[in-house]
This record gives sequence, C-alpha cells and structure tokens, in this order.
Amino acid sequence: MRRPVVVANWKMNMTLARAEEFVHRFAGEDVEAGGVDMVICPPFIALAPLSTLLQNTSLMLGAQNMHWEKEGAFTGEISPLMLREIGVRYVIVGHSERRSYFAETDESVGQKAAAAFACGLIPIVCLGENGEERRAGKTEEVIRRQLLAAIELLELEEDRRRLIVAYEPVWAIGTGIPARASDAAAVAACIRALLYQKWGNGAAEVRILYGGSVTPENIADFTGRPGIDGALVGNSSLKPGSFAAMARAVYKERRG
Ligand code: PGA
Repeated sequence: MRRPVVVANWKMNMTLARAEEFVHRFAGEDVEAGGVDMVICPPFIALAPLSTLLQNTSLMLGAQNMHWEKEGAFTGEISPLMLREIGVRYVIVGHSERRSYFAETDESVGQKAAAAFACGLIPIVCLGENGEERRAGKTEEVIRRQLLAAIELLELEEDRRRLIVAYEPVWAIGTGIPARASDAAAVAACIRALLYQKWGNGAAEVRILYGGSVTPENIADFTGRPGIDGALVGNSSLKPGSFAAMARAVYKERRG
C-alpha cells in the first residue's frame, strides 16, 4: 500500500521568519492526517532552523535542489550530505523551473536522483511536458525521455521502491489551470507502465504525484484517481491553513 504524500514546494518564497511562523501556525491546525506524509521544502537557509522546529511534529523536511557531489569546488552549491546531516529527508530534483531557468539536463537529474539515495535522501523527481510539446502530441515521448534518464543510475531495489516521481505539466504550474484529473491519471499510468517495463514488480511501490495548480478544492480529484499518490504544490502550500486543508482532503478521500 502506497502512503499518500503532500509536498509543499515553497520555491523562492518565505523568509526564515515567515517559515518559522508557518510552522507555529500549522501546529494550531487540526490536521488529522495520520497515514498522509506531509513534506515542506523551504529555501535552503531555512532548512537547518526548521529541522529543529519540526522535531516531534508530523511535518517532514525536503530541499528544493542539491548538487550530486558530496563535496568539492562547486561554488554556491549544496551537497546531499549537508542536507542529510541537518535532518532533511526528501529533495526535489529536476523541477521544470530548474530545467528551464538553470539549464538542468536529463543527465544531471539522473545524477542527482542517484546521489540523493546514496546519501540517504528520497528524491522527488519532476517530469512534465511544456505547452508546445503537449500541443504537438509529444507528452508521452517527453515523459519517457525524462523518466528513463532520471532513473538510469538507480540500481538498488530498495531505492527504486522509495522513489517519488512528480508529474508536473509545465503549462499547469503557477497558471491556475490544472491538468484534467483524467489526463494526469493517464500520464501517471504511463509512468508506472514504464517503471514496470524497467523494474518489474518493484514499480508497484513507487509513489507518483501530480503537480500544477493544485488547491485544497481540487487535490482530492487527483488523489482520488488510482495511480496518483499525492501532490506537489507551490502557491497553495504557502499558507498553513491551505496546506493543512490539502492534507485533510487527501486523508478524507483515502478513508472514503
Ligand atoms: P503551483 O506549483 O502549485 O504553484 O502550480 C507547483 C510546482 O511548481 O511544484
């Protein structure tokens, strides 16, 4: 049974003071979300202080990016080892904003996914077609290319089972126009079929998320589809009340 997961991607938002305020206010929310994993991914500088603050809470910590080497002459970069040391458990890799604004390649995404596991982190690998690719009917082709590169270096059975893949159509991110849940479910099924082809039964445990204009109102439309195990959320994750509402909605939908 795959545990649902709701991931907050704060991007370059929230100062440290506001991040701490989020955690304090979230503690006051009535989140009866046992069985739903909740992960927040703040900017790097908030990770260490939040790690302390999140002890004995139901929130887990993720980073938004990392380098694939453990250490070295890579000015401005953060290594998986550094993240692990301060209690980070998840890391987003290959977000479309990193691919398009910071020239991340399919290859570097694959290196990062492998490096994350090697240091005890769980990568949340993002995939998704842009609007032009979608209109050209290339969604499956793009997903296939990005997915195969992302998982190429994952050799251990236990890593494969813990992998998280987020399907995030680029045209749906930050636009207020989510994908249709049926379309997202079709792509999720395609991702799982590819994983089965490569890995056999190990693919059954991989969690596949949807991301792109997810809100408290629509999240259960996605997680209600078989094969979609949660959501990666930007804008709607910035307010504690809204993040809590999404966790509650997933919990409720799963309980039926
Ligand atoms: P959004 O962002 O929820 O604001 O569309 C999602 C993401 O980029 O992960």
